[in-house]
Amino acid sequence: MDSTTTRTMPSSSIPFTTEIYRQSYGRINGVVVVGEALAEQHFRLLARAIPEDAGELKRLGAMEGRHARDFVGCAKNLGTEPDARFAKELFAPLHALFRDCDRRGDLPGCLVIQCLIVECFAVAAYRVYLPVADTYARPITASVLQDEVEHLNYGEVWLKQRFSAVKEAITAVCSQALPATLPILRALVPDMQTIGMDPLELMVEFTEIFEQSLEAIGFTRHDATRLTLRAMAA
Ligand SMILES: [Fe+2]
Ligand SMILES: [Fe+2]
Repeated sequence: MDSTTTRTMPSSSIPFTTEIYRQSYGRINGVVVVGEALAEQHFRLLARAIPEDAGELKRLGAMEGRHARDFVGCAKNLGTEPDARFAKELFAPLHALFRDCDRRGDLPGCLVIQCLIVECFAVAAYRVYLPVADTYARPITASVLQDEVEHLNYGEVWLKQRFSAVKEAITAVCSQALPATLPILRALVPDMQTIGMDPLELMVEFTEIFEQSLEAIGFTRHDATRLTLRAMAA
């Protein structure tokens, strides 16, 4: 991440109505909407893979579907629309990895990708976006943020209950899934700066939340940091 990234701008100086803002917003909103739609698919696949929690997982999936629709509304409110094609290309490697874990019956892999990595990124991104959001998007983002914390918590609890059995699988999937996730963020750096988000702040938030999750599951702080940094450097 380059060190010249701007700090978050005060919302009064954000040019919400300019064409350049709308174009950047459309690309970021596309990633958000496609990410939410994939999250819905992932939770539906998880509901099939974990029948004892199917009701709960379908409920979480339905929340993701609502998030996608609400964020489409945020783009519409600004007179733009989500750039879904760009976003689908960015998410393809991570989604393929999830599908591969699902096909192989690698439940820890699926849960790490959706509930830890995707949800930690969602929480980090929405926290950094919130102070620079327009007045229509702000309450929607605040409400979605609470839901994403709940989704993260589902994965943490499941993995914590089986920690000794799934520890190695978590480490293995992180080494594949984090390098597949970081390019999504890198591709959005100029657009984030245009809409007033600090990409470096997003990475700091993500790293903190992700390491806290690994610790909540059972890793030591040292191992959580080591695992995160090694996977990010790959
Ligand atoms: Fe969501
Ligand atoms: Fe979520």
